[in-house]
Amino acid sequence: VGFEPERRGSHPYLGVDFRTLHSLCNREALLFSFQRHLLSSRLLRGVPHLNPLHILDEDYCGQAKCMLEKVGSWNFDIFLFDRLTNGNSLVFLTFHLLNQYGLIELFQLDMVKLRRFLVLVQEDYHNQNPYHNAVHAADVTQAMHCYLREPKLAQSLTSFDILLGLLAAATHDLDHPGVNQPFLIKTNHYLAALYRNTSVLENHHWRSAVGLLRETELFSHLPVEDSLSIERQLGSLILATDISRQNEYLSRFRTHLDENDLCLGHASHRHFVLQMALKCADICNPCRPWELSKQWSEKVTEEFFHQGDIEKKHKLEISPLCDSEANTIASVQIGFMTYVVEPLFAEWVRFSDTRLSQTMLGHLGLNKASWSALEPEASGSSEEGESEPGRATEEPSSRALSQGSQES
Ligand SMILES: *[C@@H]1O[C@H](CO)[C@@H](O)[C@H](O)[C@H]1NC(C)=O
Ligand SMILES: [Zn+2]
Repeated sequence: VGFEPERRGSHPYLGVDFRTLHSLCNREALLFSFQRHLLSSRLLRGVPHLNPLHILDEDYCGQAKCMLEKVGSWNFDIFLFDRLTNGNSLVFLTFHLLNQYGLIELFQLDMVKLRRFLVLVQEDYHNQNPYHNAVHAADVTQAMHCYLREPKLAQSLTSFDILLGLLAAATHDLDHPGVNQPFLIKTNHYLAALYRNTSVLENHHWRSAVGLLRETELFSHLPVEDSLSIERQLGSLILATDISRQNEYLSRFRTHLDENDLCLGHASHRHFVLQMALKCADICNPCRPWELSKQWSEKVTEEFFHQGDIEKKHKLEISPLCDSEANTIASVQIGFMTYVVEPLFAEWVRFSDTRLSQTMLGHLGLNKASWSALEPEASGSSEEGESEPGRATEEPSSRALSQGSQES
């Protein structure tokens, strides 16, 4: 078994009737209130007939194509690209990259099936999530592309690895509900039960991706062992994005780097490096230029606070980082950078000390300084004021950040 795909759109959107949730305290009923919405979730989400690809204004299309010439640039503005493609950044970008790497030809991918697959992937992201939407997936895919081109990887990765890396990036948050795992667990969501409270979201993203691969028969022309291998490796890559398991991956990475024993001739080592690359791509927002980075920070915080508002409204315990009265964008970002992003990228730079890596570290430092300037208390130089001095300098625990499960 192992790879049971999930049905598409099986995710109850948060447009669930929370009055039901509020008025019922018994757990059975709680579960039921979510599941009742299961079948209609796609409708509730208002998944539109896809933004028509064909009616793109030629001029916009020309500008989007022009942008793709610089798809390997770290300054690539995915927000602009998404506007120029009329909200189809994930489809256009992923298609372009697969084509550019020669993967469509090499794996003899059927254009109709591929197009359908990519459209369905994009559609299964929730547009109304401020952060975990198709633009985030496109952004992670673009970052992944930048990492795949780094010399150490470019020299050793096979076409199969590249195909997996890009597909994993494009699907890594598929059908994300816009709330985190602790929320799903405490509301007795069926996904929490299905995946036994463990990497609940990541398992769902993976199984949803497998569901789409099977539905579109994208790899049905390959030997069964190969398509099963794709499904399995896709899972292993997507599961690595579970932020609560970051320390596990990080210490393995650190050990390899200390012992200098990564041998990229070995498939298992290449796979591990792909996992690390995807993890970096997933949380690289703070390493982008300020103008891009800032927008992501606002979006992710909006999503957290939205969850916090729901928790408040329904008298559930408010998750770490989700209380808009106790956190600010700056404080959330500074904690995230310090406890999650910096440790990861410090190791990545040891692995791949390139111009790109130095650029990323440069932005990370500048962005952190910018947030600190906006949030003097969080950096410790607090004036005595409305906030209690003890709390002001309190460091958010990395556990809280993990639970916040930012950008995973
Ligand atoms: C998941 O967590 C909830 C809440 O802590 C608990 O009630 C439930 O039994 C757990 N489920 C599994 C399968 O461990
Ligand atoms: Zn993500």
